[in-house]
Amino acid sequence: MSAAALPEFTIKPNANPMPEADRLKAFESLGFGTLFSDHMAVLHWNVVKGWHDGEITARGPFAIDPASAVLHYAQEIFEGMKAYRTAEGKVVLFRPQENARRFNESARRMAMPEIPEELFIEAIDKLVGADAKWIPEGEGSLYLRPFMFASEAFLGVRPARDYIFCVIASPVGPYFKGGAKAVKIWVSENYTRAAPGGTGAAKCGGNYAASLIAQSEAVEHGCDQVAFLDAAEHKWVEELGGMNVFFVMDDGSLVTPPLGGTILPGITRNSLISLLKDQGVAVHERPYSFDEWQADAKSGKLKEAFACGTAAVVAGIGEVKFSGGGFTIGTGETGETTTKIREQLVNIQRGKSNDPHGWVRHI
Ligand code: COI
Repeated sequence: MSAAALPEFTIKPNANPMPEADRLKAFESLGFGTLFSDHMAVLHWNVVKGWHDGEITARGPFAIDPASAVLHYAQEIFEGMKAYRTAEGKVVLFRPQENARRFNESARRMAMPEIPEELFIEAIDKLVGADAKWIPEGEGSLYLRPFMFASEAFLGVRPARDYIFCVIASPVGPYFKGGAKAVKIWVSENYTRAAPGGTGAAKCGGNYAASLIAQSEAVEHGCDQVAFLDAAEHKWVEELGGMNVFFVMDDGSLVTPPLGGTILPGITRNSLISLLKDQGVAVHERPYSFDEWQADAKSGKLKEAFACGTAAVVAGIGEVKFSGGGFTIGTGETGETTTKIREQLVNIQRGKSNDPHGWVRHI
């Protein structure tokens, strides 16, 4: 096969799938990312063959060499997306091309091979097809985690020549334990997430590894998520540990930090901006300082704030804490604008309402 031709997927059904009764029992108390489906999609890449040996196979451990580059220099990227079951029983994905496109942007930043978008989407389609019974009905969804890592065994510091691409699937409920309850945010004033010229816009594991100490600090202070300020001035709000952030003002407009290379270009973020603009709502992508955040919350100019991402969907922010104190946003509960925009997005994602932008892909 030439490097340019797309590989076929060999389907190897799991000989020991989870019994249906166990799966349905597990569906009764879905959290986030602890239950996994029966299969995974796997593809290999090397400099000679390009993408090859695609398979849908039983989910299980990889045997990788202890010198695999990912274990030493963290050449790894990932995506997050969801498959939903519509009320009519159909299976849909939300904007999978955007995940494929962003995956390749991350790959370029991390000096990894790009994957043809159609191959990325085929891997998703095939896995979701094999594990369709793992998509919960009702509120839940099947969270898909495509990822790629450097598997070449060597200790020199250079881009690896062998990679494994994989997609695993996890039936999920709400990301936050409190469900729809407004979340508490800890603002980290010591740790930053990404510096100009760094990897902040790439969805690479290293960004999340670097966020963990600050996230632990957030949990120690009774908060759900950490918010990072910019690395240069420690002044501007950038993003949360694993999601973007929006502010709802008293004149009905919204503010969200601009993408500038240090922030993940969230697909949920982008979708919300489009939906709001469709309705004539002003959304300002502009720097917003932590000082402004405090002053606006105090004066009442800031009515609501919310976190958004594939995993979190849209989650109201009720309280903010930091080393110097804390403050409440609005009533401290999830606000009206947040609830409304969440509902609009979820209804499109689940095929319950019109899809004016053609975001939903039927499998
Ligand atoms: C997602 O929202 O899909 C992410 O990758 C973020 C992570 C907090 C789960």
